[in-house]
Amino acid sequence: MITLKGAPVAQKILTEVETYARRHPLRLDIVLVGQHEASQIYVAHKLRQAEKVGIKAVLHHLPESVTLPEVIHLVEHLNRSPEVTGLIVQLPLPSHLNESAVLDAVAPQKDADGLHPLNLGLLAQGRASWAPATPWGIIELLRHYDISTEGKHVVIIGRGRLVGTPLSLLLSRPTSYGNATVTLCHSRTPELWRFTRQADIVVVAVGRPQWFPPEGIRPGAVVIDVGIHREGGRLVGDVQIEVAEVAGAVTPVPGGVGPLTVACLLDNLCRLHRVQSRSQ
Ligand SMILES: NC(=O)c1ccc[n+]([C@@H]2O[C@H](COP(=O)([O-])OP(=O)(O)OC[C@H]3O[C@@H](n4cnc5c(N)ncnc54)[C@H](OP(=O)(O)O)[C@@H]3O)[C@@H](O)[C@H]2O)c1
Repeated sequence: MITLKGAPVAQKILTEVETYARRHPLRLDIVLVGQHEASQIYVAHKLRQAEKVGIKAVLHHLPESVTLPEVIHLVEHLNRSPEVTGLIVQLPLPSHLNESAVLDAVAPQKDADGLHPLNLGLLAQGRASWAPATPWGIIELLRHYDISTEGKHVVIIGRGRLVGTPLSLLLSRPTSYGNATVTLCHSRTPELWRFTRQADIVVVAVGRPQWFPPEGIRPGAVVIDVGIHREGGRLVGDVQIEVAEVAGAVTPVPGGVGPLTVACLLDNLCRLHRVQSRSQ
């Protein structure tokens, strides 16, 4: 069984980002609302990693009580600020804020998370210059470990807009590390294991700690665990640890997909900068 560690892949990407950032001053602005515990940890990690590779990172931490017009006002201000290369709005937002309305307000050319409808539309057409960081990180991980997706059956569990849906678009593109036959499963999929047991690669992006069991795969399959949860003082994924006894390769938690999400976010910033420079 191969452990698909994310750190070496992330490091390779971050070295390239650092080289780019040395020649071009880049700035990432992060909008965080409220006190969501996991979000605060993710954001701290993004800020730290950005500074490490020479990218200026600015946090706008808004109180839980902020209104939708106030958030949109800030986003529009950042859109207009020439010193801001890209921005992200950390999800999830508190339930009184309409996530789609906030994401729609981000200027497409500053959308470092690739979640604006225009950028997702370009992704669907195979014309995007960047993609949401977590699915893009999964592609980079597969590339690094030489796990071809060409002609393979990939079953993704979870159709969330951050991971499952954009990953299904990336994997079905007619390119290398695309060309897969993709099955996108969700909570309304009956007899889920009937699909996952046929898969060459299973991606679990469900958001349920230690949920996916070894019986869910056929021996030798590749398993990508996207989940990350704090349980009893340690970090666990969506996948049960025993899956490693059956799988051919599996991502660890922590240390699998997580480091790639941050690296690919910062790589996106370089991509945004290149596109912005070309259009000036
Ligand atoms: N490692 C990282 O860097 C990173 C980055 C982003 C996200 N994550 C993690 O990835 C996971 C998914 O994130 P997300 O934002 O995509 O989540 P999300 O938007 O909440 O989507 C979860 C998906 O899982 C499906 N689901 C829930 N229970 C299910 C079940 N019993 N059987 C089959 N499908 C089920 C849901 O189905 P319905 O659509 O039918 O409700 C939904 O499509 C979370 O654990 C999140 O913390 C990790």
